[in-house]
Amino acid sequence: MSNEGRSLGKLVIRRYVEADAGATWRVFHAAIHGTASRDYTPEQVRAWAPDTVDEVRWKGRRAAAYTYVACLDGVVVGFSDFTDEGLLDMLFVHPDAGGRGVARALVGRVLREAVAAGHRRLHVHASLTARPAFERFGFVVDAARVVEVRGQRLRNFDMSISLPGADDAGPAGR
Ligand SMILES: CC(C)(COP(=O)(O)OP(=O)(O)OC[C@H]1O[C@@H](n2cnc3c(N)ncnc32)[C@H](O)[C@@H]1OP(=O)(O)O)[C@@H](O)C(=O)NCCC(=O)NCCS
Repeated sequence: MSNEGRSLGKLVIRRYVEADAGATWRVFHAAIHGTASRDYTPEQVRAWAPDTVDEVRWKGRRAAAYTYVACLDGVVVGFSDFTDEGLLDMLFVHPDAGGRGVARALVGRVLREAVAAGHRRLHVHASLTARPAFERFGFVVDAARVVEVRGQRLRNFDMSISLPGADDAGPAGR
């Protein structure tokens, strides 16, 4: 059943804290096994999102990036991030909350924070599933690529977006 047209509860985008680790992993797993499974084979899906997680590694990766979570009526339904290297590494929204602007709100926050951190360009390795959304957000495809994950080859795209710089921030600048 499509979520299109359903009303949005109270959506809050906030900084990730370590207590969000389990919830973000569950969103990651559900988004890949639910939404992305329309573009990837069951074998690719299982390789990308195995049913078990290395919790220490997961927490380490979330903490190593600037991570933001989307909460709908207090429940974590999505997350995104960016790294010091200018990579938007993660963008995942739970299928039950899909199609309601959660990714748009998350990426909007990430782009604003990346600008504030001084980035002039943000890159992403966008899945087949996420490419149309990133295009709607203004990213452009730089190259098609194939990545190997746990023995499976997955197609995705190098995409990037140019960010407004301090010179464009208006008279007050930064
Ligand atoms: C991709 C994903 C994050 C989108 O999340 P979402 O909350 O459903 O997206 P939104 O509702 O914010 O929609 C964002 C925009 O993309 C558009 N969009 C999303 N999917 C689309 C599709 N398949 N075709 C065309 N447009 C699409 C929406 O219409 C919307 O545009 P608008 O804001 O201009 O109206 C989500 O589907 C997901 O988690 N997918 C599986 C995991 C994945 O592949 N993650 C990316 C790893 S790089």
